[in-house]
Amino acid sequence: AGAASLRGRRVVVTSGPTHEPIDPVRYIANRSSGRQGHAIAAAAAAAGAEVVLVSGPVALPDPRGVAVVRVETARDMLAAVEAALPADLFVAAAAVADWRPQAAADLKIKKRDGAPEPVLQLDRNPDILAAVAGRREGRPRLVVGFAAETDALLDHAAAKLARKNCDLLVANDVGAGSDVMGGAENAVHLLTRTDGAPRVEAWPRLDKAEVAHRLVARFAAMLDG
Ligand code: C5P
Repeated sequence: AGAASLRGRRVVVTSGPTHEPIDPVRYIANRSSGRQGHAIAAAAAAAGAEVVLVSGPVALPDPRGVAVVRVETARDMLAAVEAALPADLFVAAAAVADWRPQAAADLKIKKRDGAPEPVLQLDRNPDILAAVAGRREGRPRLVVGFAAETDALLDHAAAKLARKNCDLLVANDVGAGSDVMGGAENAVHLLTRTDGAPRVEAWPRLDKAEVAHRLVARFAAMLDG
């Protein structure tokens, strides 16, 4: 295998937002477009990997050469990821909803004059990345997480790297004006584990396809090394 090859590797990628139903016509979601996760799945396939992309609802076409499993909720995403394992590499690029309405109503919730306004009670969703990285058996050799933060980017990212037991963390600033969520470009920091404080690399602002290409080259080198 040449440089940056993922030939013979199995890769699972999550991408996009999740939708958490409130009732049959309403849901809680976030601004993730899936562009970065889909670009990583495409780049991994182009590098020769066998790729399963577990995607929340997005407006993107399926990347070429990738097996796509479409899901809606965080719980569905976790089940689809577990069904797709084992893998050499797991990349958690999805913006998974942290909470879901406790019970989705069977019928559309109606406005009624004089009735109290509805209150949403939320339950915590499973953490897919932490579940995969924490596996005793069948943990992928390389587990990669993302951190989208609006403030204290590197502090939050370093904490996340350790707390979720990932090997590599891709941090991006999604604060107001960054235009990263849904946009075509991304400026990331790469955090890798060491015995002490994580090693941090700042990458320039790049097209998401180029970020994906460089990330895949890094993953290949780490799996080969
Ligand atoms: O905790 P936070 O959502 O900021 O962590 C972000 C990272 O964790 C991303 O890699 C995301 O895909 C993953 N994640 C997950 N399941 C969740 C929440 C986050 O896989 N429920």
